[in-house]
Amino acid sequence: LDVFTYDPGFSSTCSTKSAITYIDGDAGVLLYRGYPVAELAEHCSFIEVAYLILNGELPNAQQLHEFDQNIRRHTMINESLRAFFNGFRYDAHPMAMLTGVVGSLSAFYHDTTNNKDPEHRKIFAHRMIAKIPTIAAAAYKRYCGQPFMYPQNSLDYCSNLLYMMFAVPAEPYQVDPVAARALDVLFILHADHEQNASTSTVRMAGSTGTNPYAAIAAGIAALWGPAHGGANEAVLKMLNEIGDVSRVPEFIRKVKDKSSGVRLMGFGHRVYKNFDPRAKIIREQCHKVLKHLGKENDPQLELAMKLEEIALNDDYFRERKLYPNVDFYSGIIYKALGIPVNMFTPMFAIARTVGWVAHWIEMIADPTLRIARPRQVYTGPAERSVIPINQR
Ligand code: CMC
Repeated sequence: LDVFTYDPGFSSTCSTKSAITYIDGDAGVLLYRGYPVAELAEHCSFIEVAYLILNGELPNAQQLHEFDQNIRRHTMINESLRAFFNGFRYDAHPMAMLTGVVGSLSAFYHDTTNNKDPEHRKIFAHRMIAKIPTIAAAAYKRYCGQPFMYPQNSLDYCSNLLYMMFAVPAEPYQVDPVAARALDVLFILHADHEQNASTSTVRMAGSTGTNPYAAIAAGIAALWGPAHGGANEAVLKMLNEIGDVSRVPEFIRKVKDKSSGVRLMGFGHRVYKNFDPRAKIIREQCHKVLKHLGKENDPQLELAMKLEEIALNDDYFRERKLYPNVDFYSGIIYKALGIPVNMFTPMFAIARTVGWVAHWIEMIADPTLRIARPRQVYTGPAERSVIPINQR
């Protein structure tokens, strides 16, 4: 301890230098490569933002076209993965499938991925960003027992995802452009968030020089937890559990009683202690989408708004600086779009793949890279001798 700092949960440890994303938690500021996320959500497509996060600058029309074409070229996954999907139990959680199948990509690209070659890193980025929606959609199809749909590369990124999830071979399917744009905005807001748990996991795994697809699989596993990306699923489960606006005060009482172990899901953030700028945009998007779909009287939206109102005016939440985070409203949008609850976290994973890939590239290209190797404060017994088993 004389030399090392004990910092559980890494509340005050900077694990790296990074030029990708800037957060000012007190001021509620989130910038990707210097651009406010709200401006990007208003003016750009997700693919445009992906280019920015990866390359540091917004693309011109030609650069965007080339990048978009590269992503579209890589959307298919190896046909043998069909057998892998079918090997999962029928009710496997899509995040379990996502972790496994993305990890398995390292088996397909093990000898063609040289971490030191910038061209290889670029192909990895295109492949990973292109294939993650196909894998997530296939996990969903496996879950509901429908045939896998091949990607339609004439469609944009989010329309293609909706197509692969909801189209069936026997019937024509028309993507709703409002739904696709809503997804695009949600993905922009989720694309990166500096050194969060899953990104730090990707960096930590990647720092050993492992195959990058394996590092991304590690990030997906970290994202799954309810304190991180699993929160969007947990919010919907919580709203279902509360059931009715009349039961909100009782639920808030339960949250405030620490012995209950119940948290208000979708509230609180390690870094944002004033408001989460993403939550504000998502809240607006939520009202817009529900109106478009004729679901503005959705009882869960009403419930969420009541919950938010009561919590924001309660001393417990005010004293601890707990505000709605990005996931408080995202689940309501996903649900309105017909996306089942267990696919909420895979949606987050698709968007965050851009951030994970950008951070992996930033790290692996850094000539000063060292393996991530935290220390500990040892609390076990002092050195002692083994007593032979017949004397214990
Ligand atoms: N409901 C009730 N109490 C809470 C909550 C909550 N959601 N979050 C924190 N607290 C309390 C906590 O009990 C503690 O109280 P006390 O000081 O009396 O012991 C205090 O607030 C500080 O909490 P903490 O656990 O030390 O805070 P943290 O920075 O370690 O955790 C968090 C941040 C996001 C994990 C936590 O706020 C939480 O569990 N929120 C609910 C899950 C959630 O919505 N996660 C999504 C985060 S945003 C998406 C993403 O990027 O992952």
